[in-house]
Order: sequence, then C-alpha cells, then structure tokens
Amino acid sequence: MFVTFEGVDGSGKSTQARLLADRLRAEGRDVVLTREPGGTPVGEQVREILLHGEDVAPWAEAALFAAARAQLVDEVIRPALARGADVVCDRYLDSSLAYQGMARGLGIERVLELNLLATSGLLPDRTFLVLVPPGEAAVRGDDEPDRIEREGPAFAEEVDRAYREIARVFGQRVVVVDGSLKPEDIAEIIRGQLRDLS
Ligand code: TYD
Repeated sequence: MFVTFEGVDGSGKSTQARLLADRLRAEGRDVVLTREPGGTPVGEQVREILLHGEDVAPWAEAALFAAARAQLVDEVIRPALARGADVVCDRYLDSSLAYQGMARGLGIERVLELNLLATSGLLPDRTFLVLVPPGEAAVRGDDEPDRIEREGPAFAEEVDRAYREIARVFGQRVVVVDGSLKPEDIAEIIRGQLRDLS
C-alpha cells in the first residue's frame, strides 16, 4: 500500500510516518519510508533550492516540487510498489495543493493537473492529515525555519484551511487525525484505519 502523511509544519506528521513504518516492519512487511521534497539525489538538490533559495516565483516553486515528486515516483515509489513493498511518504501531492494551490493562490485544480502529469496519476491509497491548531504547531517546530516556514502565521493558517478543504473534497482517500493526542495513541488509530488495506 501507498500511504502519505500531511499537515502543517510541526504537526507531528513526520513522527507518525516513522512510527507507522516501524510498526509495519515489526509486522514483517517490506516498507520504504521516504520524504518530500527530497528522497532521491535529484530531489535533495531541488529541496535545497526550494527551502534555501531566494525569490522563487510561485509557479517555479510549484514546478520544482512537482519535479522532485516526479523523480521520487520514478526512482523510489513505483519500483517499491511493483515489488510489493509498502511505501510511507512524509508529504506528497496534497502538500502542493495546500501550499501552492491554495496558500500561494495558484489554484488547486491547476496544481493538481500539474502533479497528475508529474506522477503519471499516482495517488496514495490513503492519506493521513494530522491536524493541530496552527498556533500549537508553530511552537513544536524546533529547527531553523526554512523559506516557506518564514512566510509566517497568516500563511500557516491559510495552509491549515486548505488542508481541511482538501480533506472534504477527497474524503474517500484522506483521513483526518487529531494531532493533539499522544503520539502512540495517534499511531494506534492510524494502524487501525489501514486494516482494510493490509
Ligand atoms: P518538510 O521538510 O516536510 O518540512 P517539515 O519537516 O517542517 O514539515 O517540508 C518543507 C517545506 O516545504 C514545508 O514548509 C512544506 C513545503 N512544501 C510545499 O510547499 N509544497 C510541497 O509540495 C511540499 C512537498 C512541501
């Protein structure tokens, strides 16, 4: 199965991606854990431009995220799924829909179109959206803010609104989880939500 994690910066989604991968491995499954942007040598170079470059125009930003994603799908995700492994990815195309499509104002539809081209239509089997009040998320993040995090609280709130909208529109695929619960409890809920797939 192909499972992705989404949420604002500092929501705890990366912890959950790791906990799920650990748990599936403990069950004896072959698991590939990866992250976006990055996860491949090309993707890591693109990540550098995206997170530490200067003055990246909105469509350049969307196209670079899509480029890193195209490489990841081609090099890592599709081969892993083809050999029967599970893939757990920390962020995927919903990040672009929320950050570039809505918060940057490029339009969810158009950004989705770009990403469906880049991934040749590969959508996750399930996406977990970890929701926390935006104020709380900002407090949790402890490393140096990147170019996108530096946009500030109004942008973060817009991303949060975007994610809630995405969860409504893609209700079949996207499952909302309460990020204010204890990490182990969230992990338990998430494993339960995947029983129909594995
Ligand atoms: P990430 O490394 O996941 O940051 P964090 O660990 O703090 O969540 O993501 C880096 C930043 O890139 C994050 O602010 C979200 C942003 N982003 C987009 O704007 N669009 C995208 O498509 C992706 C994958 C990430």
